[in-house]
Amino acid sequence: MEKAPMDKLLLSNIHIMTLAALLLLIHGKGVVESSSSSSYSHLDDTVIGCIAHERSALVGFKAGLSDPANLLSSWKGDDCCKWKGVRCSSRNNHVVKLDLWGGGCDPIGDVRRQVLGGKMSSSLLGLRHLQYLDLSCNGFYGVQVPEFLGSLHKLRYIDLSESSFTGNIPPQLGNLSNLRYLNLSYGAGTYSKDITWLSQLTSLEHLDLSNVSLSATVHWLPVVNMLPSLKVLRLSNCYLRTSSTSLQLPNLTSLETLDLSHNSFYTHITPNWFWGLTSLKYLDISSNGFHGQFPEEIGNMTSIVELYLSSNDLVGMIPSNLKNLCSMEVFFAYENNINGSITELFLRLPSLII
Ligand SMILES: *[C@@H]1O[C@H](CO)[C@@H](O)[C@H](O)[C@H]1NC(C)=O
Ligand SMILES: *[C@@H]1O[C@H](CO)[C@@H](O)[C@H](O)[C@H]1NC(C)=O
Ligand SMILES: *[C@@H]1O[C@H](CO)[C@@H](O)[C@H](O)[C@H]1NC(C)=O
Ligand SMILES: *[C@@H]1O[C@H](CO)[C@@H](O)[C@H](O)[C@H]1NC(C)=O
Ligand SMILES: *[C@@H]1O[C@H](CO)[C@@H](O)[C@H](O)[C@H]1NC(C)=O
Repeated sequence: MEKAPMDKLLLSNIHIMTLAALLLLIHGKGVVESSSSSSYSHLDDTVIGCIAHERSALVGFKAGLSDPANLLSSWKGDDCCKWKGVRCSSRNNHVVKLDLWGGGCDPIGDVRRQVLGGKMSSSLLGLRHLQYLDLSCNGFYGVQVPEFLGSLHKLRYIDLSESSFTGNIPPQLGNLSNLRYLNLSYGAGTYSKDITWLSQLTSLEHLDLSNVSLSATVHWLPVVNMLPSLKVLRLSNCYLRTSSTSLQLPNLTSLETLDLSHNSFYTHITPNWFWGLTSLKYLDISSNGFHGQFPEEIGNMTSIVELYLSSNDLVGMIPSNLKNLCSMEVFFAYENNINGSITELFLRLPSLII
């Protein structure tokens, strides 16, 4: 009981120390760079924000794209740092962010908005300092997630969701050791037969592979369990199966969101599953063919806010300890064979949505 807070204390001290070291580093670096750039501006008053070869990289990337709605009309002139969706570092002017979200996820009526499509030119490789890449909600029909993304080592954030990418997810993405956020959900027929590459992404905090077919991947549990920083894990509609009856993710102690809905487990629900993940706020295991007794251990998940268990084959009574989940706001358990009164739950948690 007393060990946990000690560990936490120790951990936060280490964090403070790393932070201090980091600040020193950044500060030191900043001094050097700002002096060099100011001497540069003395030589030449017309300091152009954008670095020439990075501008060429962007021009090359744009050349591969189709842009029927002219979304990139601002991509002209010398200073690419001023182009729409492009952000440069204020420290060294390198392009660090490319935010080309397409708006195609919110169709107007039945009509998808006109968005970016075409080819993903490897010209993008010229942006060696790129940290953030958002191409979500576009229309890259039939295009594969490019292997070369794995060479942009500074990337921390990749969102290619709902952009109709197809085909195999390149294992080269496993080389991106700085990656914190990876969202490849809802493509148009993407798959990964072997997700071992994922286990290298140990800094990942958000992973969403929903609707990526992982049907050939039996060992997804141990792979995912090697990502200890995960806060959000969404693997909905991935055709997941499991070789073991024991769904456990003991290393994911920071996990707050777990979505495993719409898969193909058809396995017996057991008391030793991930009910021990006490930091979980959101759990969705609906539509999976899980069968067995409604697990009493769910009553131990005291952080839970939203709980989705619907459309399985759970039987038995709703355990009375569910009323201990005082943060719970949503509880869906329909389409099971559960009986028992939920009146008590309601009395205790009056704002519950059932
Ligand atoms: C991934 O993208 C989808 C669609 O754009 C979005 O709904 C979802 O919230 C994203 N996932 C994460 C973990 O941010
Ligand atoms: C990147 O990953 C691939 C496949 O996982 C590997 O073959 C390749 O050597 C890696 N490249 C670098 C530069 O690390
Ligand atoms: C999921 O992927 C399949 C192709 O594998 C596609 O036909 C389907 O439309 C996708 N579902 C959603 C909700 O995007
Ligand atoms: C969960 O709660 C039960 C009582 O409902 C208790 O016996 C059990 O040890 C708890 N399990 C865990 C993993 O905390
Ligand atoms: C719950 O349902 C089962 C059959 O599905 C029945 O045997 C049991 O008596 C029921 N329990 C209560 C308390 O209604």
